[in-house]
Amino acid sequence: MLANSRLPTSAQTAIHEHLATLLDRHVGSVFRKPYADYNRAACAASLERRERVAPNSPLILDSCCGVGESSIALARAFPDHYVIGVDQSESRLSRNTGGKSELPPNLDLVRADLVDYWRLLHDAGIRLERHYLLYPNPWPKIGQLSRRWHGHPVFPIMLELGGVLECRSNWPIYIEEFCFAAERLTQCPAECQPYVPDQALTPFERKYFSSGHSLFRAIVQLP
Ligand SMILES: C[S@@+](CC[C@H](N)C(=O)[O-])C[C@H]1O[C@@H](n2cnc3c(N)ncnc32)[C@H](O)[C@@H]1O
Repeated sequence: MLANSRLPTSAQTAIHEHLATLLDRHVGSVFRKPYADYNRAACAASLERRERVAPNSPLILDSCCGVGESSIALARAFPDHYVIGVDQSESRLSRNTGGKSELPPNLDLVRADLVDYWRLLHDAGIRLERHYLLYPNPWPKIGQLSRRWHGHPVFPIMLELGGVLECRSNWPIYIEEFCFAAERLTQCPAECQPYVPDQALTPFERKYFSSGHSLFRAIVQLP
């Protein structure tokens, strides 16, 4: 990737003025979007694989894993954990499947839409040890609040998966909003911190860092 990435541009200069109202609406109503069959199948298959390979291992979820580089690094860094990387893009995921035989045994890369996958994990009673959400699409325009994960109706359910939740972005307002939303819904402290990686964990982190962007992260210890 080239080191000439542009920073997200937005007319928004602080936490979105409608975020609190949106969160309260999402908490006060049940999100009923029907599950797509392919997500049901993907989730069931991934839970079966986990049951076969590492039934009692603590689970790490790498949501929006892209090409799965971070998932592979996490599986190597936590050999006693089982890592599931999820992305909706088959073409991104398949960039790693060529060398699948070399993938760590405690790793699974899954193609699914997280709007369903998170809810299906929740329905299955799954609890996470760690949860990574690295460089999600920022959707920085003012009118795109509901496209950001913390503005989406699935966000309260995603938080219920628990564990240590880490989100990173090159748009500080995304992380500030993420912290605001996580704190409002869980009462767990969350703080937007500047972040300088020793070594890039993902291709987007590498691209943004080598383009000279400041990076930010939130780490929330969920109940
Ligand atoms: C900006 S990329 C970041 C990828 C990777 N984490 C990285 O840092 O290199 C955002 C990723 O989120 C994925 N994504 C967006 N919405 C998704 C959804 N609803 N379900 C699953 N993946 C999604 C996209 O396919 C894309 O790979």
